[in-house]
Amino acid sequence: LQDTVTLNNGVKMPWLGLGVYKAQEGEEVVSAVKTAIRHGYRSIDTAAAYNNEEGVGQAVAEAILENGLAREDIFITSKVWNSMQGYETTLEAFDTSLRKLNVDYLDLFLIHWPVKGKYKDTWRALEKIYREGKVRAIGVSNFNIHHLEDLFADAEVVPAVNQVEFHPHLFQKELLQFNQDKGIQLEAWSPLGQGKLLENETLKAIAAKHGKNVAQVILRWDLQVGVVTIPKSVNEGRIVQNANVFDFQLDIEDLAAIEALNQDLRYGSDPDNFNF
Ligand code: A2P
Repeated sequence: LQDTVTLNNGVKMPWLGLGVYKAQEGEEVVSAVKTAIRHGYRSIDTAAAYNNEEGVGQAVAEAILENGLAREDIFITSKVWNSMQGYETTLEAFDTSLRKLNVDYLDLFLIHWPVKGKYKDTWRALEKIYREGKVRAIGVSNFNIHHLEDLFADAEVVPAVNQVEFHPHLFQKELLQFNQDKGIQLEAWSPLGQGKLLENETLKAIAAKHGKNVAQVILRWDLQVGVVTIPKSVNEGRIVQNANVFDFQLDIEDLAAIEALNQDLRYGSDPDNFNF
């Protein structure tokens, strides 16, 4: 859980973190984040759109005190929502995230979706915040290759991270390769396919072989293909299980069998066709 990848600007990011999409503001998210940190998680992924940044901030502050940690021990990611894209509005949105999270810097701030005609101005705002030292790394989310190529045409800073939907039914091999070639760390959202992969027979067989469960096999696969992963759970038992993936190795046959499960199937929205 303390295992980190070094991003293209030298900042270290944990390979596995807690996702809090759909964790409810208040008691639910506070409890999930505190539980995760108590069990060794050091990275929390939220977003303005999740409406739970205040709870995340409260939980991080309490967990730091209760576990003898420092702010620098926790890697906090948030994202600017679509309706706030544009240069000035993004600067405002960043300040709002800081205030809600009750911190004086973020570790990673992402453009949540590639809103046409907006994301380049949004990126300029992120570059400014980054240069001012208010965020340790900046990146994007849900960017396809053509979005990245378009961004590169004007960008001064290469994104450190691209967070996309990624799971065995959506093994975005070409996108993964492209990001690797450009030095952008790919990060998986919905790594468990929103729970829809947990009954898959191939994955069950691999799990049985290693004495692990399906969720652990999928999360281990993310790490072995070089993708940072942020499984969401608000349940203590599952939070613990999901982090217990550093003590086994999938072999070549396992990796091939998992790759063969790809169906280019999205459970979430399509970055080339969303309207929110
Ligand atoms: P819960 O929060 O009740 O644990 P994803 O990260 O792919 O979006 O998947 C998250 C979903 O999978 C949530 O509904 C979460 O529910 C559930 N989940 C998370 N971890 C596990 C696990 N180890 N086993 C089964 N379900 C899980």
